[in-house]
Amino acid sequence: MRDRTPRRATPLPVMAAVTVLVGSLTACGQEAVGGSRYEPEGGKGATVGLAMPTKSSERWIADGRNMAERFRAAGYRTDLQYGDDKVENQVAQIENMITKGHELLVIAAIDGSSLTSVLARARDAGVRVIAYDRLIMGTEHVDYYASFDNERVGELQGRYIADALQLDRHEDETFTIELFAGSPDDNNTRYFWNGAMKVLRPYLASGQLVVRSGQTEMNQATTLRWDGGKAQQRMDDLVSAHYGATDVDAVLSPYDGISIGVISALKSAGYGTAEQPFPVVTGQDAELASIKSIIAGQQTQTVFKDTRELAEQAVRMGDAVLTGEKPEVNDSSAYDNGKKVVPAYLLDPVSIDKDNVRLLVDEGYHTEEQLR
Ligand code: GAL
Repeated sequence: MRDRTPRRATPLPVMAAVTVLVGSLTACGQEAVGGSRYEPEGGKGATVGLAMPTKSSERWIADGRNMAERFRAAGYRTDLQYGDDKVENQVAQIENMITKGHELLVIAAIDGSSLTSVLARARDAGVRVIAYDRLIMGTEHVDYYASFDNERVGELQGRYIADALQLDRHEDETFTIELFAGSPDDNNTRYFWNGAMKVLRPYLASGQLVVRSGQTEMNQATTLRWDGGKAQQRMDDLVSAHYGATDVDAVLSPYDGISIGVISALKSAGYGTAEQPFPVVTGQDAELASIKSIIAGQQTQTVFKDTRELAEQAVRMGDAVLTGEKPEVNDSSAYDNGKKVVPAYLLDPVSIDKDNVRLLVDEGYHTEEQLR
């Protein structure tokens, strides 16, 4: 990890001029005075590029907004961009941020393995990088990682299913389950899957849980770009091919958008009545549509990850990086991106169902009116 010299207070207009200068030097591919790489000034007044994946999910809108507000409150300029779930957009946006001389990039990758070359450019321009929520893979040039304990998210989902079906109390009863995983290009996907499988695998091995489709491998269960429509299609297919006389008792879903798609498919197949109740359906992100669905007795569970805290954490890390301090981390072993173990700060996720859904209002994450 490179150390940066402590900041001196630089008036904003001067910083702006420096920023423009850095931008043009970088754009022309020129080298730094006294070294092979240009070292931007950083410090208060620097511009932070925020590269978020998509606006199609409310959480990322909130993540971007929260970070932009907090970085600005901490004395930085911000440039917030959304990639519309298209890798080429995100790469172009990051390239542009480097060209403009931004000094820190906070990136929630669309495809964790697609940023190697653009981050090599960032390295050459001396731009620091924080991976946000999703780890960036296959590059040494990612300084820190701010996220949640992703394996724990999966464990909470798996444990919820085991408890809701009371698997430990009714060892002689068997239940059916279908399994969904997240986007195959998101590193979080396998952490969620592994966490859930850690809990569910013994019940699958004993035959107490039965996957009638036989699709028990992660690569059979993934959902490209976390697309709820694709999940709905797959659930339609699974129900019509494998569930006739038998009902599905549980669906492992790693994310609320997928859960909503799964529930739509179940509704079309006649679930949601007294004779054919919805299965246990998990989720993640405590998105409004899912919280309403939980209150309405459709989705069963979600995992609340307070994105305000994550944004706060990323801003604390970014501020430290830009002012020559060492950011606080609480994990230095779990997140190996294939090139380095990325020092991380991991927050705690919380399982939510109808019994503790009020927590979200108490914490001010959703308002009472929104939940009506
Ligand atoms: C993951 C993230 C989840 C969920 C999902 C879909 O990377 O950790 O919380 O938001 O993307 O957006």
